[in-house]
Amino acid sequence: NCDSETTYKKTLDSEVDEINKVSDLQDMSKMILRTNGPAELPEGYKLTMHISQTTSENVRVFRPRTNLFLKDYIMVVGTDTLTEEVPYLGSKTELAFFVEGLRFPDKDFDGLVTINLSLLEPCGKGFPETPIFTDTVVFHVSPWIMTPNTLKPVEVYVCSTNDNYTFLKSIKNLVDKCGYKLKICHEYMNRGDRWIQDELEFGYIDSPHHQFPVVLDSPRDGDLQDFPYESILGPDFGYVTRHALNEEVSSLDSFGNLEVSPPVTVNGKSYPLGRIIIGVAFPTATRGRNMTQVVQDFLWAQKVQEPIALYSDWLVVGHVDEFMTFVPAPDRKKFRLLLASPDAGYKVFKSLQNNGHGKAEMFPGKHSLIFCYKKSLPSTTVHILNCIDWNRDVLKKELGLDDEDIIDLPILFKVLEEKTGSRAVAYYPDMVNMIVLGNKLGVPKPFGPKVNGRCALETEVCSLLEPLGLKCTFIDDFAPYHKLLGEVHCGSNVLREPSPFKWWNLEL
Ligand SMILES: *[C@@H]1O[C@H](CO)[C@@H](O)[C@H](O)[C@H]1NC(C)=O
Ligand SMILES: *[C@@H]1O[C@H](CO)[C@@H](O)[C@H](O)[C@H]1NC(C)=O
Ligand SMILES: *[C@@H]1O[C@H](CO)[C@@H](O)[C@H](O)[C@H]1NC(C)=O
Repeated sequence: NCDSETTYKKTLDSEVDEINKVSDLQDMSKMILRTNGPAELPEGYKLTMHISQTTSENVRVFRPRTNLFLKDYIMVVGTDTLTEEVPYLGSKTELAFFVEGLRFPDKDFDGLVTINLSLLEPCGKGFPETPIFTDTVVFHVSPWIMTPNTLKPVEVYVCSTNDNYTFLKSIKNLVDKCGYKLKICHEYMNRGDRWIQDELEFGYIDSPHHQFPVVLDSPRDGDLQDFPYESILGPDFGYVTRHALNEEVSSLDSFGNLEVSPPVTVNGKSYPLGRIIIGVAFPTATRGRNMTQVVQDFLWAQKVQEPIALYSDWLVVGHVDEFMTFVPAPDRKKFRLLLASPDAGYKVFKSLQNNGHGKAEMFPGKHSLIFCYKKSLPSTTVHILNCIDWNRDVLKKELGLDDEDIIDLPILFKVLEEKTGSRAVAYYPDMVNMIVLGNKLGVPKPFGPKVNGRCALETEVCSLLEPLGLKCTFIDDFAPYHKLLGEVHCGSNVLREPSPFKWWNLEL
């Protein structure tokens, strides 16, 4: 019950141990006690419900007061109450209980909740009653589930900042054209922090009787930090976060570094909800930035989208969305993995040169905006190629992909010397960092050399993606995003419909 029935002076419903609004019952699971016996229990016999200490931290059980004229509910077991008598209503009756989940599965909680009900027999004065019959119900708290790019969008989120109106207008045009809703996070809330991809991740929870979206709030806590709780949490829109305690929060905790694949089958094992993808330090590295353990533990504990860890620490910003994304496709596995490929980039430039366009200018009309860059040494170029190839192999293996499932987009990186070592950033706007809205893609405008009046990089990307029925709209993000080391995907977020697949049909 991680939403909030109130919008004014909000509290998470799970932090309030009473039911103030009947609508809150929707967010709980019904549990029915059916009795079939005498009109009254014999003297001294009674029914009790009981849960363990651990369970009492994860769940609360309510029932209506037996005076049914009042719509009023009381807690039976839960916080600080492990055992409680429940009324026996006589002969053939049903009594409804409402079970409220309080926590998501995590490292110390497998999501299972056991509730017992016993019939107790009196044992004479001074002795405790003994249970002569016990019935047990086990619930599984819904995991938090992420939504891949192949699911239908509902709403697109973007920040309004004072330095670029044109970007916002392009996004609005694209979203309008697709027929989705656009939600703008205004300056009083974002305080100049435009990286709305990084502060939060949309997911959902699901049960047979109810489902709703849930925002996961990143420990990144930039100037956007109040947005998820203040503006998104509400009735039927849940909220969950994890705080780093004794760990350092790094750029890898931004959720541009948290993605999910479309459904895949790997060596006969199916992942109908896809697999979570995060970026971490290189496996054998003893130093380096990582996603905080609290967030990693949370993601692993959900179990239904078993995570894959990629190597993203080779990038200055360090997010997986800087070198990969997924787009829908009509054939094969119903999607393609798009990878940034310096190899494909060099091929485009080499062929321009071979065809007499060697003098065509890069960043036409943008000269004043280019930040100066040192020519990459061949060894650093090889290093970048190796980093992407390493990730490519992991993705192929963990998602069960063939080369035909992958499209290489022409993207070049350059290396910045930092105190902490050499790390890479995209040289021109990183086209793989796109927003995917059905078959319409909002792609960072690369500002490559023009041939016959058209950008050669745009031409190349369109020729790779259009055969799949995808339509590219190139969006100028140069000044307000690219120059600040982010692009269209980093500056947007998409709430999507839940998957039709029901997580409880998975063997966990
Ligand atoms: C619930 O009942 C099961 C067996 O019926 C028992 O193993 C378990 O310890 C009981 N738990 C509690 C909290 O009473
Ligand atoms: C973005 O903002 C900058 C600085 O305010 C301005 O110079 C530039 O023209 C804007 N670019 C676009 C594409 O709107
Ligand atoms: C980073 O996280 C990964 C995945 O959980 C782990 O295997 C690795 O040891 C961590 N690396 C460092 C340097 O902390």
